[in-house]
Amino acid sequence: MAKRIFSGAQPTGNLHIGNYLGALRNWVALQHEYESFFCVVDLHAITIPQDPEVLREKTREVARLYLAAGIDPAVSTIFIQSDVQEHAELAWVLNCVVRIGELERMTQYKDKSKKQRENVSAGLLTYPALMAADILLYQTDLVPVGQDQKQHLELTRDVAERFNRDFGETFRIPDAYIPKVGARIQALDDPLKKMSKSDENANGRIGLLDDADTIRRKFKRAVTDSGTDVRFDETRPAVTNLLTVYQLLTNQTREEIEAHFAGKGYAQLKGDLADATIAFLEPYQERVRGISDEELGRILRDGADKARAIAEVTMRQVKERMGIVGA
Ligand code: AMP
Ligand code: TRP
Repeated sequence: MAKRIFSGAQPTGNLHIGNYLGALRNWVALQHEYESFFCVVDLHAITIPQDPEVLREKTREVARLYLAAGIDPAVSTIFIQSDVQEHAELAWVLNCVVRIGELERMTQYKDKSKKQRENVSAGLLTYPALMAADILLYQTDLVPVGQDQKQHLELTRDVAERFNRDFGETFRIPDAYIPKVGARIQALDDPLKKMSKSDENANGRIGLLDDADTIRRKFKRAVTDSGTDVRFDETRPAVTNLLTVYQLLTNQTREEIEAHFAGKGYAQLKGDLADATIAFLEPYQERVRGISDEELGRILRDGADKARAIAEVTMRQVKERMGIVGA
């Protein structure tokens, strides 16, 4: 059987260049080697309060962003998580396998619950059980994600191993695929924080749908380090972050890039980086606009049908093994 990939992004806020460089870009590259499933995880989004109209719109927008990035619906399955009810069903089962202590140790939970302070939903805590369900339903081999998801992947493996031990071999144990470069793009306004969809300050991220003026302005304002020369240097995280984005967008080696910027300063780096980003995003946005509602609807319905056919098989086995078989 062909090896499988599963990954997803939440339809909350605006997808940014970090999502593209850390995740989407690798999905596109890997889709020809693996049987691939790319999901818009709307059930994850509601762990934090969402406006229903906005959520509906963003869910479709994220699917468009997948397609425009180069996910080919002829080879990959693109679908909306809530269209396949087995995700919620298996999540419940895995909630009964995962331990509260494991969930409480998740750094994303700790960060998000701290930020929200009051009225933290139980769903925010049990979020990793839903993510594990997403992955395990498809007997996934590889999960291409950014660095921030590594801990959730480890928990997924632990839960799958526990289930297999207690109820018999059921789930394939997935591996994380975290890129060597780009797994954690930092915020432009603070190189010690990751670029994030949910940060109040939109100047920290370059949205995949930002226009050229906005992109130039955000890079111009980006924080830099002390010093003047433009080179990759871990002790200068701001410039190294900008150079990393430049490296991934231009597909040049670090040596070529350092040679290009030799004797030039931060202003040149920011200008060239804005040019490279705009050169990438303008055609990208053109492709987003070129996808009609009808075409999108058809792709998502086909995707849900294909996903459901596989999810049903796994779910039936899970119920069988656990003794929840109904009449
Ligand atoms: P999310 O926005 O949390 O739904 O994430 C979607 C994907 O983008 C996941 O694989 C994340 O690990 C990845 N991702 C999110 N933020 C970043 C970032 N700043 N740098 C690299 N990858 C990221
Ligand atoms: N939790 C992931 C994030 O915030 C999104 C996600 C949900 C996911 N289910 C997944 C990623 C399954 C990979 C596989 O980025």
